[in-house]
Amino acid sequence: MSYRTGAISLLLFVIAVFSVKAASAVVYSLPELPEPSRYGNILIDRTATAHGVKAVSFSHWTHRTRFTCRVCHEELEFDMAVGVTEIGCDDIKDGRYCGACHNGKLAFKPEGNCVYCHNGDIDFRGEDFPAFSQDLPPDEFGNQIDWSEMMRRGQVQPRRYLNEKPPVATFDKSLTLEAAWGRIPPAVFPHKEHNQWVDCDTCHPDLFNIKKKTTEHFSMDRILKGEFCGYCHMKVAFPMNACERCHPGMKR
Ligand code: HEC
Ligand code: HEC
Ligand code: HEC
Ligand code: HEC
Ligand code: HEC
Ligand code: HEC
Repeated sequence: MSYRTGAISLLLFVIAVFSVKAASAVVYSLPELPEPSRYGNILIDRTATAHGVKAVSFSHWTHRTRFTCRVCHEELEFDMAVGVTEIGCDDIKDGRYCGACHNGKLAFKPEGNCVYCHNGDIDFRGEDFPAFSQDLPPDEFGNQIDWSEMMRRGQVQPRRYLNEKPPVATFDKSLTLEAAWGRIPPAVFPHKEHNQWVDCDTCHPDLFNIKKKTTEHFSMDRILKGEFCGYCHMKVAFPMNACERCHPGMKR
C-alpha cells in the first residue's frame, strides 16, 4: 500500500468511526439545495420559448398533495426527467398529459389561462408555500416537510389513480442494505412507504434488481449522480443530505 492510499484509508477509517456527518463534507459533494418552496419545481422548455411562449412552470409540492407520483409518471406517462416528454399544447387541449386534469373540471383549463403555466417563473405561487407548510411535520432538507409522516397522519391523501384502478401492492418488506464498507450503518429501504407513491415497475427492473444486494454499481457515488435512490432523492423526494433518514444508525 502506498503512502497516499494508506493515508486516505486511514482518513476514511477515522471518519467512519468518529464522524459520519463529517464524511458528508469530506467525501461527498452534495449539490446546493434551493429554497424549500422551490425544491421539486421545474421549468419545462422543450419547445415553449422556441414557439414564442414562456417556459412552463410546474411544481411537485402542489401537485403531490393531490396526486401520487404514479398518476403522472405511470398512468399519464410523463417521464421522470425534465423536457423529455413530448407534450404539445394540442395534446393538452385533447385531454392528454397536463390536459388530463387541466380541462376545466379537475383544474383550470388552458383557454384564457396561458400565463398560469407559461410564466417562465420557477417560483410561481412560492408565496403560498409558508401557509401550506406551517402545520406540517418539519424536516431538515428539501421541502423541509416530512411527506412520509404526512401520509401516516393522513394530512395528505393524494389520489392513486385518475381512471385505471391499479392493483393493491402486497409486497411491503423493509430491506436492510448493508454498505460495502465496514462500520457504515446500513441503509434501510422500506417498500411500504414507497408503494403508496410509485409502482413496482418504476423501480424494477430498470433501477434495481428484484433480489437484495444484487444490483450492480449500487454505491453512494452513483446515487449522488442521480442513479438508483438518487433518481428521486435528489430532485423530488427528500434529498441526499438527510443521511440519517436512510442510514438510521448515523444519528448525530
Ligand atoms: C401532476 C403530475 C405529477 C406528479 C403527481 C408527479 N410528477 Fe414528477 N414530473 C411531472 C412532470 C410533468 C415532469 C417533467 C416531465 C418532462 O418535462 O418530460 C416531472 C419530472 C420529475 C422528475 C425529474 C425532475 C428533475 O428536476 O430532473 C422526477 C425525479 C420526478 N418527476 C419524480 C416524481 C416523484 C417522486 C413524484 C411523487 C412524489 C412525482 N414526480 C409526482 C409530473 C408529475
Ligand atoms: C396546464 C398548463 C398549460 C396551459 C394552461 C397552457 N399551456 Fe401551452 N404548453 C404547456 C406545456 C407543458 C407545453 C410543452 C412545453 C415544452 O415542452 O417546452 C406547452 C406548449 C405550448 C406551445 C409550444 C408549441 C406546442 O404546441 O407544443 C405553445 C405555442 C403553447 N403551449 C401555447 C399556449 C397558449 C396560447 C395557451 C393559452 C391558450 C397555453 N399554451 C396554455 C402547458 C400549458
Ligand atoms: C393529475 C392531475 C394534474 C396534472 C396531470 C397536472 N395538473 Fe396542474 N394542477 C392540478 C390541480 C388539481 C391543481 C390545483 C387546482 C387549480 O389550480 O385549478 C393544479 C394547479 C396547477 C398550477 C397552479 C399553481 C399551483 O401549482 O397550484 C399550475 C401552474 C399547474 N397546475 C401546471 C401544470 C402543468 C404545466 C402540468 C403538466 C406538465 C400539470 N399542471 C399537470 C392537477 C394536475
Ligand atoms: C422505489 C423503488 C422500489 C419500488 C417502488 C419497489 N421496489 Fe422492490 N426493491 C427495491 C430495492 C432497492 C431492492 C433491493 C435491491 C438490491 O439490494 O440490489 C428491492 C428488492 C425487492 C425484492 C427482493 C427482496 C429480497 O429480500 O431479496 C423483491 C421481491 C421486490 N423488491 C419486490 C417488489 C414489488 C413486488 C414491488 C411493488 C409492490 C416493489 N418491489 C417495489 C426498490 C423498489
Ligand atoms: C421512484 C422514486 C424513488 C426512489 C427510486 C427511491 N425513493 Fe425513497 N422515497 C420516495 C418518496 C416519494 C418518498 C416519500 C418521502 C419524500 O418524498 O420525501 C420516499 C421515502 C423514503 C424514506 C422515508 C420513509 C419513512 O417512513 O420516513 C426512506 C428511508 C427512503 N425513501 C429510502 C430510499 C432508498 C434507500 C432508496 C434506494 C434504495 C430509495 N428510497 C429510492 C421515492 C423514491
Ligand atoms: C436516499 C437514501 C440515502 C441517503 C439519504 C444517504 N444514503 Fe448512503 N447509502 C444508501 C444506500 C442504498 C447505500 C448502498 C447500500 C448497498 O451497498 O446496498 C449507501 C451507502 C453508503 C456508504 C457506503 C459506501 C458506498 O458507496 O456504498 C456510505 C459511506 C454512505 N452511504 C454514507 C452516506 C452519507 C454520509 C450520507 C449523507 C450525506 C448518506 N449516505 C445519505 C442510501 C442513502
